[in-house]
Amino acid sequence: MILKTRTSADLPWSEVTPEPIYRSRREFLRTGVAGITGAAVAALAACGTAEVAEAQTTLASTPNPKYVATAADTLNTFEQITTYNNFYEFGSEKGDPAKYAGKLTVKPWSVKVDGMVSKPGTYGVEDLVDFKALEERVYRHRCVEAWSMVIPWIGVPLASVLNKVGPMPSATFVEFTTLERPSEMPGQRTNILQWPYVEGLRMDEAMHPLAFMVIGLYGKVLPNQNGAPLRIHVPWKYGFKSGKSIVRIRFTSRQPLNTWQIAAPNEYGFYANVNPNVPHPRWSQAHERRLPNFFSNTPTQMFNGYGDQVASLYTGMDLKKNF
Ligand code: MTE
Repeated sequence: MILKTRTSADLPWSEVTPEPIYRSRREFLRTGVAGITGAAVAALAACGTAEVAEAQTTLASTPNPKYVATAADTLNTFEQITTYNNFYEFGSEKGDPAKYAGKLTVKPWSVKVDGMVSKPGTYGVEDLVDFKALEERVYRHRCVEAWSMVIPWIGVPLASVLNKVGPMPSATFVEFTTLERPSEMPGQRTNILQWPYVEGLRMDEAMHPLAFMVIGLYGKVLPNQNGAPLRIHVPWKYGFKSGKSIVRIRFTSRQPLNTWQIAAPNEYGFYANVNPNVPHPRWSQAHERRLPNFFSNTPTQMFNGYGDQVASLYTGMDLKKNF
């Protein structure tokens, strides 16, 4: 991202994830449906309250839990997804989050909800996420640095979380603030970025059925390096829109200033829709490096391949100006 000295295409072999043992998509679909109950239950272990115990029982006996697959690609392995990360709070090298995030305390966790909302307050994870409605979704994950992965996330639609707290009609944007705790986050003891990390979405983007609140992946509780206990995934946008370890949700009528926009406004915009036709000022976005591949030879798709579902959000907008 801000590393001005090299692009993802320049990464040395030492930083490329090792050759994985891929599970084919067909195989995953076959086992995925049966596996989701166990997956969702494992994810639940993150919380450990009475309601969660009850939800675990319900899930375990649900014959047909929800499974929504949207990316027809080969899945990345758990190892790849959890060892090649961007989480600058733990350092700017891709291996830093896996090295240093283990010590982060994620229980208990609370999220402040404020701004233009009818039920402001402080919420626990279990207040915001309906554990009985967990889904597993396979989404493409495209970083602005032109690498990508395919990840089986566990979570709930972001809209279901936001609807619980009653956004007011005057709220046209939602801002997500992530954890600031320098004692446990060594990257925050540097000024590599402005802390805390902040992101935002237009309300219609946040309420879109594809936008997802993630609490797990690959049938496990979300590892800290991937943004435990709560992170967003907005699959048609560059990865930096997906804030990790969220502690505040604020509804507003003004477009939030996101962290990367503050850091380099000519390079990172508010919308950050995946767009092969709008190059980053320092590199092309036409292709991506699908990890663990070495070469950037996967053509990038408009809106990361989700255009049929999200293009209408941007009708009439100049996407070169609104990058
Ligand atoms: N959230 C926080 N709090 N801090 C970060 O540095 N990095 C973003 C995003 N969310 C980031 C963050 C970027 S640049 C990307 S590409 C994705 O997280 C990476 O998610 P992953 O490590 O789970 O693949």
